[in-house]
Amino acid sequence: MPVEFISATFLNASTELKPIAGAGADRDYLERYARALDDYDFNYTLVPYDSSYFDPWTVGATIASVTKNLKIIIALRPNTLYPTVAAKALATLDQLSRGRAVVHFIAGGNDVEQAREGDFLTKEQRYGRLEDYIRILKRAWASPEPFDWDSEYYQFKQFRNLVRPVNGTSIPVSVGGSSEDAYRVGGALGDIFGLWGEPLKETKEQIDKIYAAAEKAGRAPGDRPRIWVTFRPIVAETEELAWAKAHRTLDALESNSAQKKRFFGNVAAGKAGEAPAPQNVGSQRLLEIAKRGEVQDRALWYPTVTATNARGASTALVGSYQTVVDSILDYVKLGCELISIRGYDNLNDVIDYGRYILPEVRAKLPKDVETTETSAPRINGSSTVVVGQ
Ligand SMILES: Cc1cc2nc3c(=O)[nH]c(=O)nc-3n(C[C@H](O)[C@H](O)[C@H](O)COP(=O)(O)O)c2cc1C
Repeated sequence: MPVEFISATFLNASTELKPIAGAGADRDYLERYARALDDYDFNYTLVPYDSSYFDPWTVGATIASVTKNLKIIIALRPNTLYPTVAAKALATLDQLSRGRAVVHFIAGGNDVEQAREGDFLTKEQRYGRLEDYIRILKRAWASPEPFDWDSEYYQFKQFRNLVRPVNGTSIPVSVGGSSEDAYRVGGALGDIFGLWGEPLKETKEQIDKIYAAAEKAGRAPGDRPRIWVTFRPIVAETEELAWAKAHRTLDALESNSAQKKRFFGNVAAGKAGEAPAPQNVGSQRLLEIAKRGEVQDRALWYPTVTATNARGASTALVGSYQTVVDSILDYVKLGCELISIRGYDNLNDVIDYGRYILPEVRAKLPKDVETTETSAPRINGSSTVVVGQ
């Protein structure tokens, strides 16, 4: 089974550990970062979306212009762009990057965040619109013939797309989320399905649901989304050094969120001193699992989840290079083909992963790794040595 690596894109030296207030898009930094991903053989970088954040399209085009092989995953919320425009924008990026464009769909997990850009649909409706949106893009990429559309969310007449994807038919479509609606839409229409790192058992349960949704949607056996799973590894040469680094990371995350509270107060908090509960199921699941203990399986560490109120991908994998390589291989055995790893010290972590993690994981494929269809992975809840706590 092929395994590919994903990172996330950063436009400046600001990190969660050392935030730089008001940092702008730093062209030199972005080039250095993107080239490091290319040089160390990462396969993809996600250009994330947030209502307050940089435009992913120009960032994606910039990355394409300074890299050779790295694929660019544009995070896209349907409310931000009419689907016919998105179809052409993605196909344009695909042509200019010589076939390296990918789109990652976000239905929208939070009503307040969606309202910031004029989206007042319910979450269920947002998933309905997403389904429609993906069908329109696929139709627009499949053929240059004009077509009409008349559905609950979109109506247009005689749209004709002359901007073709490089492979002539489509651009890879990814869907992220952990709700039943996400499984349904991603299972039916996704080439890729994105998950946040959960323990092996829960990850397997999610994969089974996605595959079941693909089957229910009438996809042929074997035609199902490739699974993407995201971690925030904290690695070092030895277990002791990695755990010391993990605790320094946690201290910085906690002190940064304490500072934020001092400056902004708990504006949206349900109770004084408590962060508001996230509305997206993915974050709810992470927080729920965090209650079971700090470490799950070999090295999946949850304090980074609680410290950030599960804001985005937040589960760490902590340990020596070897421990983290073995942990990643556990997920590969489950059927995860796309491994997203980004750390907390963004550029330095890319280099560390590129030197010590990617080559080691790749060296162990495919001979040592069989998927769960033929052999069960070791799911070990108790073997983790929690050094330095
Ligand atoms: C791998 C991955 C990447 C994601 N990237 C983003 C992003 O860039 N911006 C964003 O707002 N949400 C992002 N999300 C969040 C979800 O797509 C979002 O919360 C979803 O629309 C609703 O989640 P739910 O179905 O779990 O409730 C990402 C999720 C995953 C799994």
